[in-house]
Amino acid sequence: MATTTKQSRSQSLAKTATYPLDWLEERSGLIGGVRYFLFRKVPGDTGWWHTLGSATLTAFLVQLITGVILAMYYKPDVNSAHESVQHITNDVWAGWLVRGMHRWGASVFIILMFMHMGRVFLFGAYKYPRELNWIVGVLILATALFEGLTGYLLPFDQTAYWATVVAININGTAPFVGPYLASILRGGAEIGPDTLARFYSIHMLLVPGALIGLIGLHLYLVVRLGVTSPPWSKDAADREPEPEPVAPRSGLVQPAPRAAGVRRRPSE
Ligand code: HEM
Repeated sequence: MATTTKQSRSQSLAKTATYPLDWLEERSGLIGGVRYFLFRKVPGDTGWWHTLGSATLTAFLVQLITGVILAMYYKPDVNSAHESVQHITNDVWAGWLVRGMHRWGASVFIILMFMHMGRVFLFGAYKYPRELNWIVGVLILATALFEGLTGYLLPFDQTAYWATVVAININGTAPFVGPYLASILRGGAEIGPDTLARFYSIHMLLVPGALIGLIGLHLYLVVRLGVTSPPWSKDAADREPEPEPVAPRSGLVQPAPRAAGVRRRPSE
């Protein structure tokens, strides 16, 4: 009797705990979606190489979080931008750490992305039916590089200023569209307050928004198409399955040593 009461109590406790999740699932199907994403089947012989995409995603999320914290203190104004960065580094609690993570994390993000891209290329994972995901990846790469370019100006020191002058001048040399592109990036005839405001807005709103959308599409395609096996895999597409080893016959007609543990066909 006491056991039954205990059981029903723990059941009702579990029901209460899962109620918010059940509520959400019934109205949106979100919980089922997340469960499908986390527990979907992948080829049995995927290995460390396949973790580079998730590593890149983690680096991106670190950039998002540290970027939001930096934006709370940064001032996108030519007279105070540099000082605000110094303030973050020297005065704000753990500011040096957050800034360092964002600055170094940018390189980590790009390096991981190239490593992930290299893995996809060397494994031939860009081939049918994943060409579209490769194209989305190329767009992500270009957008992420642009994020790096716009972020580089923000500390507004000598390095930032002159690196941006060089980058804008290089863009200006493009045939036909070059001068327009350079003018749009500068926000006028010279690099100044409008350039900084423009780069800040692009760096913290436009490009991260585009990246979130593109990465969402990328992951949707990964889940929809599944991941490829490594080229050396026995399960790789187009590979002939290896023939089953035939158990040696034994007995009175064809005597052979009894092979312990040899797999036999079900018919034998
Ligand atoms: C923010 C950048 C990126 C993130 C967060 C990301 C994330 C991922 C993840 C989690 C996977 C599945 C696991 C894996 O294969 O590692 C994947 C697969 C894939 N990625 Fe990316 N990726 C990024 C950039 C790129 C780039 C730059 C390319 C190529 C230009 C690319 C092309 C692909 C392709 C074709 C697949 C399918 C691979 C397969 O099926 O084996 N990705 N990505």
